[in-house]
Amino acid sequence: MRAHIITYGCQMNEYDSHLVESQLVSLGADMVDSVDAADFVLINTCAVRGKPVDKVRSLLGDLRATKARRPLVVGMMGCLAQLEEGQQIARKFEVDVLLGPGSLLDIGKALESNERFWGLQFKDELHDHIPPPPQGRLQAHLTIMRGCDHHCTYCIVPTTRGPQVSRHPDAIMRELDMLLEAGVQEVTLLGQNVNSYGIDQGKRVPGIPSFAELLRMVGASGVKRIKFTTSHPMNFTEDVVLAMRDTPAVCDFIHLPVQSGSSRVLRRMAREYTREKYLEHIATIKKHLPNAVLFTDIIVGFPGETEEDFQETLSLYDEVGYDNAYMFIYSARPGTPSYKHFEDLPRELKTERLQRLIAKQKEWSIRKNSAYVGRDLEVLLRGDAHDPAFLEGHSRGNHPVVVPKAGGIDRPGIYTVRVEHATPHMLYGKLLDAEGRVLEPQPVAAPEAAALSSPLPML
Ligand code: 5AD
Ligand code: SF4
Repeated sequence: MRAHIITYGCQMNEYDSHLVESQLVSLGADMVDSVDAADFVLINTCAVRGKPVDKVRSLLGDLRATKARRPLVVGMMGCLAQLEEGQQIARKFEVDVLLGPGSLLDIGKALESNERFWGLQFKDELHDHIPPPPQGRLQAHLTIMRGCDHHCTYCIVPTTRGPQVSRHPDAIMRELDMLLEAGVQEVTLLGQNVNSYGIDQGKRVPGIPSFAELLRMVGASGVKRIKFTTSHPMNFTEDVVLAMRDTPAVCDFIHLPVQSGSSRVLRRMAREYTREKYLEHIATIKKHLPNAVLFTDIIVGFPGETEEDFQETLSLYDEVGYDNAYMFIYSARPGTPSYKHFEDLPRELKTERLQRLIAKQKEWSIRKNSAYVGRDLEVLLRGDAHDPAFLEGHSRGNHPVVVPKAGGIDRPGIYTVRVEHATPHMLYGKLLDAEGRVLEPQPVAAPEAAALSSPLPML
């Protein structure tokens, strides 16, 4: 079987796609990188907003047309698969295999079955399952928990991914050891809400440490860089910041989604914190980690959001001074409380607010990024940039970084980079040698007469 997986959504979905891919390979499948080359196409779906759902619908339309011309098995996994909405779509587009986020290990059973297979249960075996490490990669994701116990009124995730279940630290540490053996140098710990690791459905789980303790354990493993996502401000505690400060491998990078700067909107979102409480957390972070890079998520145009509420989001942005933000227009998702109880705001109003927020974000990102010009950063270069004369990667603060290859450095690794130029989205710099000298890239040689006989790339 030749299989191809298409992944939408978040880092958790990327992790799950890798998990299913490794199952497929162990069943003897060849992984191919296009629909044309595949006889099994699996889409890993996201249901958090309407747009990713529309993309899946249009892709499934194309696949149904392909299926009419040649044998093809079509599968759908992930968050949308778990919803009635997704199952309707699956019926309409003649999807053969449907796997919810808790049934991923049923992939083998699904492919053996001669008829349509729909797996929608949350199975405990998933938490102990350790996928083989990705090959030839310096960065990896590591899931420490699944599901979510919060009930933010806009969010479909508690429905798609079920209640929170923390993974046992033994399974996490075993998976980490395998990643390290495979050469991984940066690990991102994943959970819908990592701060409540070890407290499932309001109860501390015996034998599972707190997230702060887990960070210290992972830090002692020898891994060079640790990141984590996502934190919920409601469960945010100072001990996590202290563990970050005391554990050199943990990067000074915090993604703390605020969603809105207005306490009134936060209440309607059922976020369980106020603007003031959120700002207290930010003050705690800045006190212990003065160089922390701060990212957030913001939803604009939540039902009932007034101009004053939106102004509070803008002023909160200034007060925190975020390095960057993921900004979303509110999308009314069937099955969420806000879809049922609140009226959606007009599209133009939401779009206009998003534009104003993006302007604010750009202003801050360029200001924050420019402060790195002239400084040296530790950068994990994961491989060639779009132009193969350059390498691309990320700093410890998660800034995307691009450098020209130089001094014989042309392969992935962790290097020191002197930043020379900044945009709101990217830092550009040069590699340094072991003595801290800038490595100038080789000037591009004029082609020799003999070399001209070989085809030149199109300019
Ligand atoms: N509409 C818009 N954005 C949403 N998010 C979650 N649900 C919605 C929705 N219904 C955003 C939140 C969350 C991120 C993953 O997606 O900002 O943090
Ligand atoms: Fe990830 Fe949420 Fe989308 Fe599911 S719905 S894929 S958890 S972002």
